[in-house]
Amino acid sequence: MTSYGDEAFSLFLRKAFIKAAGYSDDALDRPIVGIADTSSDYNPCHGNAPQLIEAVKRGVMLSGALPMVFPTISIHESFAHPTSMVLRNLMAMDTEEMVRAQPMDAVVVVGGCDKTLPAQIMGAVSADLPVVVVPVGPMVVGHHKGETLGACTDCRRLWAAHRAGDIDDEEIDQVNDRLAPSVGTCMVMGTASTMAIIAETLGLTVPFAAAIPAPHAERVRSAEVSGRVAAAMAVAGAPLPSAIVTPASLHNAMVVLQAIGGSTNGIIHLAAIAGRAGHAIDLGAFDRIGREVPVLVDLKPSGAHYMEHFHNAGGVPRLLAELTRFLDLSAPTIDGTLGDRVMQAADMHGQDVIRPLDRPIKAQGAMAVLYGNLCPRGAVIKHSAASPALLQHSGRAVVFESVEDLARRIDDPALDVEADDVLVLRNAGPRGAPGMPEAGYIPIPKKLAARGVKDMVRLSDARMSGTAFGTIVLHISPEAAIGGPLALVRNGDLIRLDVAARRVDILVDEAELAKRAAVAHSPVERPARGYAQLYHDHVLQADAGCDFDFLTAQPASSADADAEPFQQSSGSTR
Ligand code: FES
Repeated sequence: MTSYGDEAFSLFLRKAFIKAAGYSDDALDRPIVGIADTSSDYNPCHGNAPQLIEAVKRGVMLSGALPMVFPTISIHESFAHPTSMVLRNLMAMDTEEMVRAQPMDAVVVVGGCDKTLPAQIMGAVSADLPVVVVPVGPMVVGHHKGETLGACTDCRRLWAAHRAGDIDDEEIDQVNDRLAPSVGTCMVMGTASTMAIIAETLGLTVPFAAAIPAPHAERVRSAEVSGRVAAAMAVAGAPLPSAIVTPASLHNAMVVLQAIGGSTNGIIHLAAIAGRAGHAIDLGAFDRIGREVPVLVDLKPSGAHYMEHFHNAGGVPRLLAELTRFLDLSAPTIDGTLGDRVMQAADMHGQDVIRPLDRPIKAQGAMAVLYGNLCPRGAVIKHSAASPALLQHSGRAVVFESVEDLARRIDDPALDVEADDVLVLRNAGPRGAPGMPEAGYIPIPKKLAARGVKDMVRLSDARMSGTAFGTIVLHISPEAAIGGPLALVRNGDLIRLDVAARRVDILVDEAELAKRAAVAHSPVERPARGYAQLYHDHVLQADAGCDFDFLTAQPASSADADAEPFQQSSGSTR
């Protein structure tokens, strides 16, 4: 309660004010379920949030509890400057503090656009109040000239065709009308779909909640069920997020992330969520999981289909049923265990979107973790969406100093670049850009695209949209802006990518690299004030989830810290 130095008066005053909204004593005596509202005119992905919130409220009230809706920050991927990633931690802080500050016994968070579910889960785990996550759901697909379209893998593919001169201005305008045909999140296996599936795998949503299309009636019914579950949790005071986000559920999430061909952003967000619960993701363990767990889900950009097809094929429970031998089915969820959810998986005869283990899309998982003299703390490649011919490749470095430099020179006809060169972008990491913009998907230089070049090896300390594809090494850590080895690369240096050996190296001798390192690099200018300064001073590197150093939790116990596949969270890995 608000502190006035007199607890009884605090309650008296609080009741007096809430009664101004017309609540009766009977209503106010009920268990309270807070509902975080992220609807915003700037966030079309959350366009159905008001309808979902009504359904959650109905479920809460049918169970005899009182719903209380409150606003938090909402972030849309395309409307957040400089990048939504900068604001993720602000949204997490907002969610955590409003859950803490206001009276509620449980909370339902309604979100979906890329950074929103990670932010809401991070905040809820830190507040450690019973939480139910309600994803807004994916968009339905669009159509153009007999082809099925989806945001935003097809946005990139068709824009690349436009750049290469294969699609004219009139047609690209038509495509623009058709790529996002409904409210909801991007319907390929981008970050939003990935994080909704991760949330369901962690056990923080009701079953099937990740994939039901946003405009479907089933999505609304799922929200109503979520309200009922939240009301039961408000009465029980359990389970707490700290009992759900455990080494077991994080292991399950890593298995599923590999099996769905998930977004590379997923591993950053998962590391941040783990850090809030006092755990740390071991990238080496994630890589080992990827060597065993195949890609089973046939969705773009790694495959051919879209989220509504994944839902029609049985959604997350069907996928979990295929993956049981890799999972810890005893992991608790908001309404039982993960094993209970496997029991709900329907046998979907004839579907080909969620494959059985003996008929995978790719024999190995979606992502590999690379080390080498360019990335001592790791880097990530989504090899399921890369060109097989480029997974072992050496080429000359063509270096871009920043995102701005890239934009300025990439299409310069005078740029010295050939198809077998390696494009290098630096100063685009958590602190450097700031916020690791999704600039890792470096466009193919126009003059090469016009010659039919579709893919090149590209390296950066940036991120990439989960909807993108190509032979692209991301999240190079530590980033160039804090003195990582990426800062030492010069035009013409030979760079070797060897995904089979899990390495990416600069083939320059150590003495020369030491000489280059001795020349001080210019640090990023510290913002003068405000959130930008807070972000600059406290953001962690990609391998620690880009959370703020003061927001991570201490390890839950020393035994937990020793357990594979997790390592002790240092909380100071800047
Ligand atoms: Fe919101 Fe893609 S822009 S999920």
